[in-house]
Amino acid sequence: MTNYKIPGASAATPPMSRVVFIAAAAAMGGFLFGFDTAVINGAVGAVGEWSGAGPVLLGFSVAGALLACAFGAWFAGPISARFGRVRVMQVAAIVFLISAIGSGLAWDITSLTVFRFIGGFGVGAASVIAPAYIAEVSPSHVRGRLGSLQQLAIVIGIFVSLLSNYMLAQAAGGAGSTLWLGLEAWRWMFIVEAVPAIIYGILASVIPESPRYLVSKNRTVEAEAVLGRYVGGTPTEIVKTIQSSLDFEATQSIRVIRGPRFGLAPIVWIGIALSLFQQLVGINVIFYYSTMLWEAVGFDESNALLTGVITSVVNIATTIVAILLVDRIGRRPLLLIGSIGMLLTLATMAFVFGTAPTTMIDGATQPVLTGAAGIVAVVAANLYVVFFGMSWGPVVWVLLGEMFNNRIRAYAISVAAAAQWVANFAVSLTFPSLAQAGLGLAYGLYAAMAALSLLFVIKFVKETKGRELESM
Ligand code: GLC
Repeated sequence: MTNYKIPGASAATPPMSRVVFIAAAAAMGGFLFGFDTAVINGAVGAVGEWSGAGPVLLGFSVAGALLACAFGAWFAGPISARFGRVRVMQVAAIVFLISAIGSGLAWDITSLTVFRFIGGFGVGAASVIAPAYIAEVSPSHVRGRLGSLQQLAIVIGIFVSLLSNYMLAQAAGGAGSTLWLGLEAWRWMFIVEAVPAIIYGILASVIPESPRYLVSKNRTVEAEAVLGRYVGGTPTEIVKTIQSSLDFEATQSIRVIRGPRFGLAPIVWIGIALSLFQQLVGINVIFYYSTMLWEAVGFDESNALLTGVITSVVNIATTIVAILLVDRIGRRPLLLIGSIGMLLTLATMAFVFGTAPTTMIDGATQPVLTGAAGIVAVVAANLYVVFFGMSWGPVVWVLLGEMFNNRIRAYAISVAAAAQWVANFAVSLTFPSLAQAGLGLAYGLYAAMAALSLLFVIKFVKETKGRELESM
């Protein structure tokens, strides 16, 4: 167990493992986020056959859940500002449980869509509450690392769901075949999410409320106890600083929460833009549509599924790199490296797919990548995931947790995360049509977004490494 020391701290510092534990507990919401958004991939084919739903209805039941995430994100902030961060986690856990069982036992496509939507509310809420809570309990010198646990949990969630889908389909001999209790494998793909949901609920019941929230409700004695037990430093001093930052922000509130443009402060716009760029570079196309991508380079369907699993492992590994770097070299350099790397790799993919000869498959023109071109595409795609995974993936979640002041944090993250889910929805919905017009065009657009993201960071993003939340 390592002890850490807050600069200027006089009181005894609690073991680091305590704050790591509560941050990891909150990050469990990220695991459910990753699991829930990726689980549909393995189930969608079998669901289509079972329900007889056409492509539009099916597409809506898939991508539509992302809109529900936007709603969940939108409401989580205000609710948590009123009832507390931990309360929102507990409710989200119950929501996940209902969605997992309900989706697994759905009787038609409508009920399935409704239960997927319910899960979306949970995902959206978890995506807001984890970064807020983690930033609020973390000592500043390790806040980036602890905040990155959220992304680590998301990508582990994606990996576990792809793996569990693969194993369940293998065990049943196909996603549409019956497994246990007379239920098809695709139903079990949803039902197994009940396990992490229950764990999340239990964890959310044992972790303490955020000290920043407690101070905002004048529960200073409790806040001091939490700081003393988990965070360290001099609790009475920290509470005073939080208190005075809240007082100061109250006098500034008109300017802080409302700004000249559409009623939002510039900092909130920066949060929204970070969120939008994180999605508009097309990352989830890799995770949601990998089959299409890998079939184009000549993989068969089961290999495409396995490649998805491998890509998610690459993402986990690079997130660990980010965790090691984020508090050393800082947020801004990581974003810059990430944007440049994504620009280069996406441009390579655009070029390879754009210049490949095409053939007709199922009535659509598909590029055929043979020999070197296929290898270049696979390498570029995985390098793209590497660059995203060490930069924009984790860093945006870290920044959203820490860039806003105490008074507006919950609201501002809600707005930014909701924008992120809408962008995720837009990218997921438009990719199939874009791909039909040409994969070169699709990747070219994402490359252009990566270029814009670079300019954006250069002009607008300030370093937050090592600073106290109260000084933001
Ligand atoms: C980030 C994104 C999420 C994406 C993940 C992939 O967490 O917010 O949408 O699926 O990265 O690594």
